[in-house]
Amino acid sequence: MSEIVVKDLIKVYKTGKSEVIALRGLDCTIKGSEVLAIMGPSGCGKTTLLNVIGGLDRPTAGSIRFDGVNVVDLSDADLVKHRREKVGIVFQFFNLVPTLTARENIELPMRLAGKSSDQMKKRADELLKLVDMEPRAEHRPDELSGGEQQRIGLAVALANDPPVLLADEPTGELDTQTGQQILHLFKQLRDEYKKTIVIVTHDQRIGQIADTVMTIVDGKITGTISGAEFSANAKISTESPPSPS
Ligand SMILES: Nc1ncnc2c1ncn2[C@@H]1O[C@H](COP(=O)(O)OP(=O)(O)OP(=O)(O)O)[C@@H](O)[C@H]1O
Ligand SMILES: [Mg+2]
Repeated sequence: MSEIVVKDLIKVYKTGKSEVIALRGLDCTIKGSEVLAIMGPSGCGKTTLLNVIGGLDRPTAGSIRFDGVNVVDLSDADLVKHRREKVGIVFQFFNLVPTLTARENIELPMRLAGKSSDQMKKRADELLKLVDMEPRAEHRPDELSGGEQQRIGLAVALANDPPVLLADEPTGELDTQTGQQILHLFKQLRDEYKKTIVIVTHDQRIGQIADTVMTIVDGKITGTISGAEFSANAKISTESPPSPS
């Protein structure tokens, strides 16, 4: 179970002569073993935030404390180690290696972490079972449906058993029912495996599983409510009659 405390996070992208300020002094705390949902308009900095929390990119300023350790201070080599051991990332477009089977995709992060063949096989079997994909283990990504690819994507993110999962619109490409299955899996990962989970999403059903829902606008957190409050508000807004035009 891992807690993450983000303070005064700033990310400026420089391209040629222009600058984009993607995060402008963002503060947030992600408690251990909670599902935090992040919502906000396109371009407000959601993916940037996940990338810097996940150590895929470095912030321009600020701190990100993972169980007390400031990730921003880590050397490049330590950051790679941190990324491999502490976080699993689930991408919107599944991000599987097309030439590898589902099982080989799941084994890849373990191979990079130097696990033995026995360890890789045992863990891949466990994960294929968890995401209910045992019958498709030898399929390549193009032989899987979108929802199946996303379940394998989740298994890949979990391969090295990281305490933290970061997911960027994991249901964005899926139909309603398949999206619901994926949300249920995240809930199970929190409840049974005590994972700390951050999900960027536009999916209104997130209130069903999120402990906390934060809104980002223009690179800053502008609101924080509980998942229950979020669900209640979503219900009111869908039930209220259309306003007169
Ligand atoms: N590598 C980059 N170089 C320059 N600017 C970037 C880069 N990545 C993102 N940006 C800019 O930073 C801002 C935040 O981008 P980000 O991808 O974090 O938004 P987002 O909230 O994830 O949006 P969406 O909902 O569309 O995915 C945007 O204005 C974007 O154009
Ligand atoms: Mg994004």
